[in-house]
Amino acid sequence: MSVHKEIKRVTTHVLSEMKLHGEKISMLTSYDYSMAKLVDQAGIDVILVGDSAANVMAGHETTLPITLDQMIYHGKSVVKAVTRCLVVVDMPFGTYQGNSLEALNSAIKIMKITHADAVKLEGGSEVIESVQRILSAGIPVMGHLGLMPQSINRYGTYVVRAKEEEEANKLFNDAKLLEQAGCFAIVLEKIPASLGTKVAKELKIPIIGIGAGGGVDGQVLVIHDMLGITQEFSPRFLRRYANLASEIKGAVGNYIKDVKSKDFPNEKEQYD
Ligand code: KIV
Repeated sequence: MSVHKEIKRVTTHVLSEMKLHGEKISMLTSYDYSMAKLVDQAGIDVILVGDSAANVMAGHETTLPITLDQMIYHGKSVVKAVTRCLVVVDMPFGTYQGNSLEALNSAIKIMKITHADAVKLEGGSEVIESVQRILSAGIPVMGHLGLMPQSINRYGTYVVRAKEEEEANKLFNDAKLLEQAGCFAIVLEKIPASLGTKVAKELKIPIIGIGAGGGVDGQVLVIHDMLGITQEFSPRFLRRYANLASEIKGAVGNYIKDVKSKDFPNEKEQYD
């Protein structure tokens, strides 16, 4: 039986049913109304309004500069477009690490204004009080462990995380902690596949991977990467399903040519 095909609206409960039935969860990022509409209509299970918007929408080098109000703008645009999938909004850097009350207020603002279904934040034991406080207000939380882009300045590099035993043990314990606190799912980014499989096997909640191998319960990619809009970013875990960069440049090139040559607009493309 496919849980995916049966349901009209994806909830956090539906995701746990998918894990129970061994059905993989599909998740992609989106940041605007038009793209989210297409992604939802194509049948995606979860849209993540990722803080990767800082990179692909605003052109920043890291995810750190994006603000709460900017994430809310993206979240609102996405929620307006979808009728079926679950929408998760990333809590941006600096809006939940300070203290748990600040975290709660940020999460409430996101939920009140965007009408999203859940929030996501990065970290384990360091942010567990914030996670608990957000959950206590009835807001579903998705965790994020492994490579955590908001900590890039501490790592200094985007290499694979948790290859060493100590970091792998910490990740595993953090995942357990997040599950015990009540998170409905966890994203694992750029870690060895064997560790991804172990976490997915030991935990009851769905584990969604990005560069965490095929043994987890679902996969997520940044939509600009998988559609081939971004060109310079080519990690091993990325599969490109289209080459929109060349499609778009070709179409724009043809438009420029037609305008310059006075071929556009023709008689049918103007009013009497
Ligand atoms: O911001 C984002 O797009 C993410 C994914 C990479 C999981 O957090």
